[in-house]
Amino acid sequence: MSNLDIKNLTLMLLIVILLWSTNFDACNARRGRHYSRPLSASLLKKKSKGHGYHSHNHHHSSKPKPKPHSPTKPSPDVDTPSPLPPPIQKAPYYKRSPPKAKSPPNPTPIVEVPSPEPKGSNIFSVLDYGAKGDGTSDDTKAFQDAWASACKVESSTMLIPSGYQFLVGPISFSGPYCQRNIIFQLDGTIVAPTSPNAWKSNLMWWMDFTKLVGITIQGKGVIDGSGSVWWTDAPYDESEDHELEMIIPLNDTILEKPPMPVRSELSGKMPSVKPTALRFYGSINVTVTGITLQNSPQCHLKFDNCNGVLVYSVTVSSPGDSPNTDGIHLQNSKDVLIHSSSLACGDDCISIQTGCSNVYIHSVNCGPGHGISIGSLGRYNSKACVSNVTVRDVNMHGTMTGVRIKTWQGGSGSVKGVTFSNIQVNEVQLPIVIDQYYCDKSTCKNQTTAVAVSGVTFQNIKGTYTVKPVHLACSDELPCTDISLNTIQLKPLQERYHLYDPYCWNSYGELMAPIAPPLGNFQIGKPLKSKVQIDVDIC
Ligand SMILES: *[C@@H]1O[C@H](CO)[C@@H](O)[C@H](O)[C@H]1NC(C)=O
Ligand SMILES: *[C@@H]1O[C@H](CO)[C@@H](O)[C@H](O)[C@H]1NC(C)=O
Ligand SMILES: *[C@@H]1O[C@H](CO)[C@@H](O)[C@H](O)[C@H]1NC(C)=O
Ligand SMILES: *[C@@H]1O[C@H](CO)[C@@H](O)[C@H](O)[C@H]1NC(C)=O
Repeated sequence: MSNLDIKNLTLMLLIVILLWSTNFDACNARRGRHYSRPLSASLLKKKSKGHGYHSHNHHHSSKPKPKPHSPTKPSPDVDTPSPLPPPIQKAPYYKRSPPKAKSPPNPTPIVEVPSPEPKGSNIFSVLDYGAKGDGTSDDTKAFQDAWASACKVESSTMLIPSGYQFLVGPISFSGPYCQRNIIFQLDGTIVAPTSPNAWKSNLMWWMDFTKLVGITIQGKGVIDGSGSVWWTDAPYDESEDHELEMIIPLNDTILEKPPMPVRSELSGKMPSVKPTALRFYGSINVTVTGITLQNSPQCHLKFDNCNGVLVYSVTVSSPGDSPNTDGIHLQNSKDVLIHSSSLACGDDCISIQTGCSNVYIHSVNCGPGHGISIGSLGRYNSKACVSNVTVRDVNMHGTMTGVRIKTWQGGSGSVKGVTFSNIQVNEVQLPIVIDQYYCDKSTCKNQTTAVAVSGVTFQNIKGTYTVKPVHLACSDELPCTDISLNTIQLKPLQERYHLYDPYCWNSYGELMAPIAPPLGNFQIGKPLKSKVQIDVDIC
């Protein structure tokens, strides 16, 4: 009898321990372990090429929010861990010391609230988990531990307080066993390490949030990717923009490379794959608001396989000549709303990739950068599907392209239901682009399939261009259909490039005046070929 009791007790204990430990493990934030497929690195390897074209894009003609602090300065010695600026203004002492360590002057019972931030049982400050916030100590472990705690509590807050600069290495905030609706309250600054040792080979993400339901990053804080140590690394043009080929300077001297932000003593030491600063994967109801993302090694903010994405009042800030630094990258994501944000970077301000639908973007400043792009789609004969995208009330200044759809020959699938409206362009090289011949510099063969493009409206697009106002290069096999241009008023501004007339090829649809300059070869109506109807598509 007592034997049986003991057995039962042991069993119960075992179950309890098991449950507790799985839960604990699952909630732990892990060091990033997301290796890239080796494929991507080798496939993207190409020879480098001059890239001075868009260096003049540095100036902002509008005024985005002031940047919290200047980009990370180079360190003469990579191995000393202090290429970072001193911590931004230290917080008052009382914020640093845990409330319970001292009795506050005002003897408030039970819950002491000496800090301006709300404190409660569901707030997990990284300072309470040992974070130093001095910009040089490695605070990764503290972030992992704070997350492990926050993960267990529904609607908890992980607090990264203001007045500190936290050095945090690659980190993964996951995942499937975390409670819902966690808030990542970012008021301080998080900086990425610049030592190659901190980056195991080929990590694709610096901060990775996966498989969460209801995750919010908010606050007035900064995520600084310390990207300049990566930007110099050689194969500069791993996905250099095809449209650069259209931009021919008047004066060859401006073809020379501009000095890069950091000189080459650091080159070659960082892994060849550059990480995205902040990435969300497989999550539902993701919100990012208030924060600034700057100087990412590569893309700043990426959403992959997410449903329900809200981004607003976000600032992205990187130099116009920082390579491949997309602002916001969307892939396989649905129901996305991005608004009231300022994006300055070295590649697409917003890039919309395959698998995206119901995307609404409005009230965004873009520049410098390569504009707002759908694609590139259909590379390596892949199928791509993008639908229902609206982009309106956007200011572009000094960007390479304005609004653009780019697809590779040989792909399949479709882009349909796209509206670009109320786009103000200032000194934009190529304001309106559909390019179905997207290609890297290796020669691309003509192929018979294409990602179909239909139902695209360009409405009320005004301002100045410096190379070519409209470039609609549609597939020979699969012309673009239902293309509508309505109220296009673009004025040339000869700066330093050859100016071109508008270009239209196999582009069908309607024009509504005024259209300036006029689009000679635009085809009114529908193509005669019936092939179009057969191939449009399967998405
Ligand atoms: C080319 O640009 C350089 C520097 O901007 C200038 O000194 C030179 O006169 C220009 N040459 C021509 C032909 O415009
Ligand atoms: C996501 O947010 C929407 C709108 O707030 C809500 O209706 C939905 O239930 C949320 N989804 C989940 C899985 O929590
Ligand atoms: C298109 O997307 C918007 C959000 O941008 C959504 O409100 C609308 O319902 C979508 N339309 C269709 C047909 O799905
Ligand atoms: C591909 O097609 C274009 C347009 O039809 C033609 O100008 C070009 O020469 C072709 N290129 C090749 C490599 O066949």
